[in-house]
Amino acid sequence: MRRKITIVGAGATGATAAHILAAGDYADVVLTDIKEGLPQGKALDLNQMGPILGFEPQISGTNSYEETAGSDVVVITAGLPRSPGMSRDDLVTTNEKIVGSVTEQIVAQSPDCIIVILSNPLDAMCHVSKSVSGFSKERVFGQAGILDTARFRTFIAWETGASVRDVQALVLGGHGDQMVPVVSAATVGGVPLRKLVSEERIQEMVERTAKGGGEIVQLLGTSAWYAPGAAIAEMVDAILLDQKRVLPCTALLEGEYGIDGLYIGVPVKLGAGGIEEIVELELSDDEREALERSAEAVTSICPLTDAPDFGELTIRYVPDAKLYELKSLRDYLTSFRDRKIFQEEVVNEVLEQLVADGAPCFVEVEGEFAPRGGMTTRVVASSGQLPESWTSD
Ligand SMILES: NC(=O)c1ccc[n+]([C@@H]2O[C@H](COP(=O)([O-])OP(=O)(O)OC[C@H]3O[C@@H](n4cnc5c(N)ncnc54)[C@H](O)[C@@H]3O)[C@@H](O)[C@H]2O)c1
Repeated sequence: MRRKITIVGAGATGATAAHILAAGDYADVVLTDIKEGLPQGKALDLNQMGPILGFEPQISGTNSYEETAGSDVVVITAGLPRSPGMSRDDLVTTNEKIVGSVTEQIVAQSPDCIIVILSNPLDAMCHVSKSVSGFSKERVFGQAGILDTARFRTFIAWETGASVRDVQALVLGGHGDQMVPVVSAATVGGVPLRKLVSEERIQEMVERTAKGGGEIVQLLGTSAWYAPGAAIAEMVDAILLDQKRVLPCTALLEGEYGIDGLYIGVPVKLGAGGIEEIVELELSDDEREALERSAEAVTSICPLTDAPDFGELTIRYVPDAKLYELKSLRDYLTSFRDRKIFQEEVVNEVLEQLVADGAPCFVEVEGEFAPRGGMTTRVVASSGQLPESWTSD
């Protein structure tokens, strides 16, 4: 029996990944999407490519989850892509809800699957899916680094006139403008990049790589899909064919690279067990600092790090604000990071815990929680000493 891959979201990236994986001809592919007709139509078209390209047509399209049952790998591309002027982080409010609900539904049908996330903001969406699925960190991770690295490799190949196949490079960190192209690890045919190209030109390539997604959004009015789709397929191949590839992926770190409790891009060994190892590279001081800055940027929309001393303060909640405005409360949630932190009851539990811990604070909860809890809730008022990053009206 062939293996089974589900791709949630039959839009640009999902259909591209389906195309490449179907052409690989070792697994069946199920495309699912909320738009009626879209996954069915794309599946039909992809199947009809089989006789021409020479693969067995086994792609199905659906608007529900029954047909996804028993999937070995589920890729989540569902959600909004960027439009010009938007950062990836601007998508957080909408895509958190989508990725949370999609995760619930895929886990119900495929309790043993491995989940690969593409939806942005990628690092935060990995936290959401891990939290909602309850899966181990080996089975929930994201795609960003393969794409970012492919962009860097392309620019290096153009600059040096070498084949892109002979360019080795690596991009670490969050999938945002603070990503870290690791220049010390970049080589062309084994020769260090710094021996071939001036520092000034290298910095231009680093900058272009970090803003590589935005460059395409400006040109197309939406985000890229060919290279992201190919990157997903490379990860799925590595898992289902147990290839033990070392690839940059967005993984939950627990102390590696000095980072704890945060999803961020690092090289990992990918095989049948999902993430089988996190590979720790030696970084230069500059690169390590850049990775720390990238981690801070990811942190601003995800929970982690040690709890700050809040001093005396009052917290009130109102609905309909944005996730990242909860940032400082999230900082306190370190000890809850593996739980469903986006849900109302857990936020309430944390507030109770704050008081029970004897934290020097007074908590006043006001207003309605939205259906998915803390997601649409924000701190609006405070008294006493607040960390500078607190948002208050
Ligand atoms: N991590 C990366 O490297 C990377 C690269 C490119 C795009 N992305 C992100 O991937 C996501 C998808 O991008 P795209 O270009 O394919 O967008 P797209 O709009 O072409 O496709 C997204 C699809 O998701 C579907 N969808 C929305 N809500 C859904 C739900 N609840 N259940 C099932 N399907 C649902 C939509 O109907 C749509 O067809 C975006 O968030 C984008 O920012 C990430």
